[in-house]
Amino acid sequence: KAFSGIDIEARFEHARDVIREAGKRAMEYYEGDAADLAIETKTNALDMVSIADKNVEAIIRDRIGDAFPEDGFLGEEMGIEKGDNDCLWVIDPIDGTACFVNQMPTWCISVALMIGKEAVIGLIYHPCNDELFSAVIGDGARVNGEPVKASNAKRVSDGVMGIGMSHRLPSSSIVPVIGQLLDEEGMFIRNGSCALMMAYASAGRLIGYYEPHINPWDCMAGIVLMREAGGWCNDFLDLPNVLEDGGPILAAGPNVAKHLADMIGISYRG
Ligand code: IPD
Ligand code: CA
Ligand code: CA
Ligand code: CA
Repeated sequence: KAFSGIDIEARFEHARDVIREAGKRAMEYYEGDAADLAIETKTNALDMVSIADKNVEAIIRDRIGDAFPEDGFLGEEMGIEKGDNDCLWVIDPIDGTACFVNQMPTWCISVALMIGKEAVIGLIYHPCNDELFSAVIGDGARVNGEPVKASNAKRVSDGVMGIGMSHRLPSSSIVPVIGQLLDEEGMFIRNGSCALMMAYASAGRLIGYYEPHINPWDCMAGIVLMREAGGWCNDFLDLPNVLEDGGPILAAGPNVAKHLADMIGISYRG
């Protein structure tokens, strides 16, 4: 696919270096004194932000902005800043903050590039395991450079499903889905990071991922990874005002996607 005048490859290579550098900085905070994290709560006690979240987002924006000054940004902690072209970098500096501040290793950094309405680069870095999940549109998905594929599970009972939930929606938006999954002898995991679970789905470790409401910075890189790994995702980017309001995300291996979409009530187009 051609996007006129925009060098996707150069942006990919640069962002790949930047996300590793950001990961190093985040690790210093993670391994440092928790008292230095200056944790604040946002909408509820489990919705937190620390100085690490803010500084890591600033590093990513500065380093990408230095190389590509025309590009725009949308990040969880610093909001939207429109650019002078169609590029929009969508950033979650730390996905899984509740894990990060409580010394659990399931947090990651997520960086995606959108050009207009299309997501074209997906990078998810998991510093504690030194795993970098990367994808560029049309070029497949990789973990530390090695190609990966989404799960080929045929039934939900063939593997584990990633599930996410926040207090942005009532419990009734997730409880029936978990019930159905268990009734079909399936199983679920919630490790505290949407991006990391989507990355795992792109590598076929999870059969898929579902969360009834998610924001674009949580899932944008995961969408590129999942599609490039031969998996299926709902039309998240076509939802109205999705960059402002977010929406449901369902990602799944190709053979279970329709079944899961029907189970949850999400429209499926093959
Ligand atoms: C959260 C995590 C969590 C998901 C929430 C997100 P944060 O992001 O991805 O797994 O269930 O919906 O808000 O706040 O840790 O960046
Ligand atoms: Ca957050
Ligand atoms: Ca997040
Ligand atoms: Ca975050």
